[in-house]
Amino acid sequence: MTAHGLFITGTDTGVGKSLVSAALLHAYAGLGYRVVGMKPVAAGAEQIDGIWSNEDVRQLRAASNVAIDEPGWINPYLLRQPVAPHIAADWQGVSIELPRIRDAYLHLAAVAEVVIVEGAGGFKVPLSATRDSADLVMHLGLPLILVVGMRLGCLNHALLTAEAIAARGLKLAGWVANRIDPRMAAIDENLATLRLRLDCPMLAELPYAERPDARAMSALFSPKKLELLISST
Ligand SMILES: Nc1ncnc2c1ncn2[C@@H]1O[C@H](COP(=O)(O)OP(=O)(O)OP(=O)(O)O)[C@@H](O)[C@H]1O
Ligand SMILES: [Mg+2]
Repeated sequence: MTAHGLFITGTDTGVGKSLVSAALLHAYAGLGYRVVGMKPVAAGAEQIDGIWSNEDVRQLRAASNVAIDEPGWINPYLLRQPVAPHIAADWQGVSIELPRIRDAYLHLAAVAEVVIVEGAGGFKVPLSATRDSADLVMHLGLPLILVVGMRLGCLNHALLTAEAIAARGLKLAGWVANRIDPRMAAIDENLATLRLRLDCPMLAELPYAERPDARAMSALFSPKKLELLISST
């Protein structure tokens, strides 16, 4: 069986891709699907009980309902330094290879019904001297969800990202408004602008929360929209 896969990209780093990825995993699990999260390239790791791990990977694992024993399938590249992936990889003497990520994805797609793949940073983040995150999405052939971190500057970032996705013939299947700045001015006007200019459905608007909880946020996604999203992939 081959799963439905969705690639989660964002307007920037730190805009809520992990929160949205985990919320989507909870939401699809709630609809009865076997789900697993993947973070192909994670930059920034801590040692816990002598084992290196990354917070995003832990968050995705916690929201998945299919247990994966092989860490390399969920996270083929764990880089220790919290810097741009191609730099972290270079410092560690690692070369990020897209076919290895695809192999890992295919393993996950064979055991789950929905695979949520969280990108690193934004859509064009370099992964090596010659490849970037956009190449990775092309290699995986997945539709994308764009997480828009609602703050000043997000309109430009969102529209540039949508344009770059379309230029590659990739599908932007939906977007999520994530209220990361509780004091953002003209929020309604900004949301209206995005609704008008992004040529895909808005899947959810996530409020600002002191301690955002992915399971609670999952209730904000309409089951109908979620089913529609994967029925077309
Ligand atoms: N709706 C929200 N309300 C309040 N805080 C939020 C919200 N969404 C995200 N955050 C906080 O912003 C920070 C970044 O969120 P998150 O880790 O999901 O972003 P990301 O896009 O996955 O980042 P990265 O590029 O590092 O993977 C986290 O501390 C998270 O708790
Ligand atoms: Mg993240």
